[in-house]
Amino acid sequence: MRYRGGCSFILLVAALVGLPSPCPAQMDVWSKGGVHPVTLKADADTATCTQCHSDIGKGKYVHTAMTMGCTTCHQVQNEKGVTHVNLVAPVNQLCITCHALADDKVLHGPYKAGDCVVCHSPHASNFPQQTWAAHQDICLGCHARARLKVNNRKKTVTVPWGVTLTFAQMQGWMYLNLNQTLTANHPVEGHPVSGPNTAMGPQAAPITCMSCHKAHASNFAYMLIKTPPAPGQSLCKTCGLCLECHKSMFP
Ligand code: HEC
Ligand code: HEC
Ligand code: HEC
Ligand code: HEC
Ligand code: HEC
Ligand code: HEC
Ligand code: HEC
Repeated sequence: MRYRGGCSFILLVAALVGLPSPCPAQMDVWSKGGVHPVTLKADADTATCTQCHSDIGKGKYVHTAMTMGCTTCHQVQNEKGVTHVNLVAPVNQLCITCHALADDKVLHGPYKAGDCVVCHSPHASNFPQQTWAAHQDICLGCHARARLKVNNRKKTVTVPWGVTLTFAQMQGWMYLNLNQTLTANHPVEGHPVSGPNTAMGPQAAPITCMSCHKAHASNFAYMLIKTPPAPGQSLCKTCGLCLECHKSMFP
């Protein structure tokens, strides 16, 4: 994990003497790289990197690209005896060199901008699809007023897992009007956004944001998996959202 500003020196010292990190958990996922504190050979391979970065790539869910080696994404360059480790492409273009953007009609702001690393670790995490937190907590991280830390002076926001974004990256962002426990009140008052799916019975998967929304993109407004039916629209094949759970809502 990389920390901001004045902390890198403290961290280096702490790392060298084996102390735990004294710095606040702020992740700089936007760095393009820079001067590497340790001199490396230009052809240093994954085995060399992991001698020091043994924590990178640890987690229940490991990005498949890790099998291709560190230098798939990081390049080592030496100039006048100074080692630089830079990303092979700007961070907001790196992921889409292998993962083409969806060509759906509606794209989620941070996905469209290539800001993949705000939600996914490039290396590994303990959550499916190597997201930094459980999917529901990822969504609430930006869309729940109680979770997002806003700094109006710096014009930045910080999500609970420590990634900071500028207002420009957050263009168009909105909060949901959820209850205190962030479990209900959307898309209609009193509606659950988590917990058991009592409309479908005990066998059904619990409700999450992902019961109704895609994380990246969809062909329906608000990245819904389907459009909500308007009364009298019963023949619309893509208008089944509410009917997924409320079988007899619009007879
Ligand atoms: C799929 C591309 C990719 C691969 C493969 C990859 N990285 Fe990264 N790595 C990134 C990106 C993107 C960042 C975030 C930008 C930054 O901080 O420079 C990053 C950040 C880092 C950081 C600084 C932040 C942190 O988490 O500590 C280290 C150290 C690092 N990588 C080491 C490695 C090592 C060692 C390997 C191989 C075992 C590796 N990376 C493989 C893309 C990758
Ligand atoms: C001899 C130990 C050592 C080796 C070998 C090593 N690193 Fe590092 N690296 C460090 C230390 C110490 C830091 C600073 C503390 C931190 O950020 O973890 C660092 C920082 C980084 C960073 C974040 C700072 C930056 O430059 O953006 C990246 C990325 C990184 N290393 C990638 C690599 C890659 C890729 C390799 C293999 C090609 C590698 N390192 C090999 C010790 C090492
Ligand atoms: C060098 C090519 C390459 C790059 C660059 C790359 N990936 Fe991947 N990624 C893969 C491959 C290969 C897979 C496995 C096949 C698949 O699911 O598409 C994968 C899978 C994934 C998965 C799916 C994991 C799962 O459990 O389904 C996620 C999420 C992901 N990558 C995110 C990223 C992010 C974020 C970045 C940028 C930091 C990135 N990838 C950059 C090659 C790459
Ligand atoms: C707002 C958070 C967020 C952003 C930004 C984001 N993702 Fe994801 N991504 C997720 C979540 C959550 C899932 C799991 C989706 C699911 O289970 O339906 C996922 C799934 C994936 C998968 C595996 C499933 C699939 O769709 O193939 C890949 C690969 C992936 N993301 C890559 C990316 C790339 C590349 C970017 C940037 C262009 C990106 N993600 C941006 C949250 C995000
Ligand atoms: C990094 C912050 C961030 C995270 C995390 C995030 N969002 Fe968003 N979301 C935004 C921003 C910014 C917008 C406004 C831009 C846009 O319309 O996409 C937005 C818009 C939306 C919209 C409205 C899209 C439209 O067409 O008007 C939906 C729905 C949404 N997000 C759902 C989700 C879901 C579901 C998750 C979890 C997988 C999630 N968001 C996670 C930042 C975030
Ligand atoms: C039961 C289905 C359902 C669930 C669950 C759900 N949504 Fe929605 N969401 C909708 C519908 C329908 C809309 C369309 C606009 C509306 O009616 O508010 C919407 C709209 C949105 C918007 C845009 C709001 C605006 O003011 O423009 C965001 C952001 C959003 N959802 C995020 C989330 C997040 C985050 C979660 C999980 C905490 C979630 N949704 C769970 C159905 C759902
Ligand atoms: C993923 C399943 C699911 C989807 C999709 C879904 N709902 Fe629900 N809904 C529930 C559950 C569970 C409850 C709470 C138990 C119940 O009332 O059956 C509920 C309750 C409601 C209630 C009663 C709220 C209250 O105050 O008790 C209304 C109204 C409602 N849903 C409307 C909708 C509408 C409109 C849509 C489509 C935009 C929709 N639902 C989509 C699962 C769902």
